This record gives sequence, C-alpha cells and structure tokens, in this order.
Amino acid sequence: MYLTREEERLYDGELGWAYQVAMRILVKLGDLFGADKLIPITSAHISGVSYKTIGDAAIGFLEEIIEAGGKVVVNSTLNPSCLDLERIEDMGVNHKISEKQLRIIYLYERMGIDPILTCTPYYIKKPKEGSHLAWAESSAVIYANSIMRAWTNREGGPSALAAALIGKTPNYGMHRAENREANVLVDVKAKLRSEADFGALGIHVGRLVGDDIPKFSGLKGSDIVCLKHLGAAIASSGAVSIFHLGEGDCDGEDLERITVDDADIRRSVEDLSTTSEKPDMIFIGCPHCSVGEIKKIANLIGGKKIRKDIRLWICTSKYVRERSKPYVNLIERAGGTVLCGVCAVVTWLKELGVDTIMTNSAKTAYYAPTFNNVETMLAPLNECIEMACSS
Ligand code: F3S
Repeated sequence: MYLTREEERLYDGELGWAYQVAMRILVKLGDLFGADKLIPITSAHISGVSYKTIGDAAIGFLEEIIEAGGKVVVNSTLNPSCLDLERIEDMGVNHKISEKQLRIIYLYERMGIDPILTCTPYYIKKPKEGSHLAWAESSAVIYANSIMRAWTNREGGPSALAAALIGKTPNYGMHRAENREANVLVDVKAKLRSEADFGALGIHVGRLVGDDIPKFSGLKGSDIVCLKHLGAAIASSGAVSIFHLGEGDCDGEDLERITVDDADIRRSVEDLSTTSEKPDMIFIGCPHCSVGEIKKIANLIGGKKIRKDIRLWICTSKYVRERSKPYVNLIERAGGTVLCGVCAVVTWLKELGVDTIMTNSAKTAYYAPTFNNVETMLAPLNECIEMACSS
C-alpha cells in the first residue's frame, strides 16, 4: 500500500508509539485486503466499550495509548457500555465491574472520543452521503452504507480506533464503488407485518448470503425502523455490510435469485424464539431506539401499568432520551425503564435474575441465548408491550 511521506513518518514512530501502532494496524489491514492507499475519513465509531466484552487486557492497551499521547483527529464516538452511568445501582452490576467500566470510558474520553455510548450514532450526527467513515458496530455500518449512503467497512474496535487516531482508513472493500454492487437478488414474497418480521427476514437472508450483497425486491418505501431491524439482523447472521432495495419486482435483474415466502419467515421467527414461557424481561432498543420508537412505545402503553413481575427495558442514547422526555416520563411512570448507553446484550442479565427475554429485535434474539445464556422470544413491538402490561 502506498504511503505518503507523512504517513511513513507516523509508521516509523517519529510522532510517538500511539500513532505508530495505529499506522501499523491500518497498513496491515490495507496490505491484507489489497488497499492501494489510505483515504481520509470524516468520522470513526468505536466498539469494544463494554467491560463485559473486552475485559482487562483492553484496559492496559488503552492506558498505553494515552501514555503515549494518543488523541483522535476526527469526530469519534463510542458504542454502548455495560452500564447506564446514571443508574449504576439499579443495574445490579457489582462495584468492581462498574469501576472498570468507568475507567474504560474515561480512557476513551482522554483520547478525545465522544462518549455517546450508542449503536445508533446516526440519530445524533448523520454522516453525509458519499462520506468515508471507519465505523465498528455492524448494525451501524450496514445502516450507514445502505440507508445513509455513506461508505464504511465493518471495522473492529482496534481498527476503528486506529483510523480515529490517524484520521484515515485503507481504501478497500466498501470504500470502492465496484465492491458495493448487489450480487444476489432476494425476492420477498412473504408478507412482513412488523419490525420483528423484517428482523427474521434479515437473519434468514444473512445465513444464506454470507458475505454477498443482497438486493431486496418489494421492500422499497418500507418503514425506516423496519429497515434498521432488517440490516442489524443480516449483519448478525451474515458478514453483510450493505443491502440494496430494488425497484418493483426486479424482473430484469441478471442476478442469482433467492425467494423468501411466509413459511421462511415463520420458521425464522420460530428459530429465534427458544421459549414461550412468561419473560422476566422485555427488551426494546436493539439497535438503540429513535425518538419515534420511544413515542410509539409510550402510546402503546397509554394509561396502563407494567406488570410487577416483568422488567421493561427500553434502551437508547442519552441524546435521544433527552429529546423524548414526555414519552420517557410516561413509560417510567407506568413502571418501565428507559436506559441510556447500554443494552441488554452487552450487560449481565443473569445477575439481574433474568432467564427469559422477549424482544422485538431479531438481532437480540439471535445473540442473547449464547451471549447472555437466556431464553428468547421474538415478537412485534405491540405484542411485547401488551405482554408487559397485561396482568
Ligand atoms: Fe446495539 Fe446492543 Fe443491539 S449494542 S445493536 S443494542 S446488541
């Protein structure tokens, strides 16, 4: 990969160890994937924030970067942690763990990274169409590429941090137009009734396409929240970073074709539901909720109360929570909790006495049985809220 004179100096450590390590990560990736050069990015989004997922080794690495004077040079943001920083006591996380989590966030902040702690950074600052980014968090990556038409590879935590420190990323994969074209057509014959069905479609298709790029027929004009769930799900079961929405039934397209019917969706929902028992928790907000979703939840609750034997967790960013105040107040008066900067998947559910969760998120239903060792039930938002409120 070609390096400018200035990049070579960084690579050789003339500006310190932190930038040298960052350059080495980027060059290694670039060489591996055949990048010709580094290109400037407008933002980085960094995963690897929850102490539950990164552990102690990562803390040592972040401390060394700080000691070596590492500072980010572009707008950089953080994925969720394992805590709501304003409700540490309620989260059932022990003191030692919360100390470690706070330390991780502090270290990232010292590097100049904005601790927005959300997987939906695009609700706070929309990336411009055509801008190059270095985002980790697969659900945000696929949303940025497919819905916002920005350009980002699916970074890991270290490569997103390296890109944030240098302000550049290797020019390969999603950064090149020729790699963003669809190569498989997904003909959706199924009737999709809810965001849970869109998520179930995503899990089904992700399994089939692997790292191919799907174009969906029949989904143009779908609700944006449903598309968010679709993307998060395909990126979970497949290594997919972008999807396209075709015009009409895409009959003229000369692509390999997959047909998805009602039975496929039903089977996918069934696979993602490991139990039909009463849930201990209802979790909404994977990916983190928008203001519109929080409003919808508040409207569904109306004047009802949340059952005492079920926790209702709604997860979002602090930014969205503050802009949804009246709805948050209604939800919390009813007995639900609107948490910020965290999600059920990246925290400890068993310690909270949670064995079973019901969710409208196929991504959560896909990961939680292995990540959190809990049983899951996938259902549309209205059924989740109905369950939370029934007596
Ligand atoms: Fe976000 Fe957690 Fe889901 S980080 S995408 S809410 S697993």
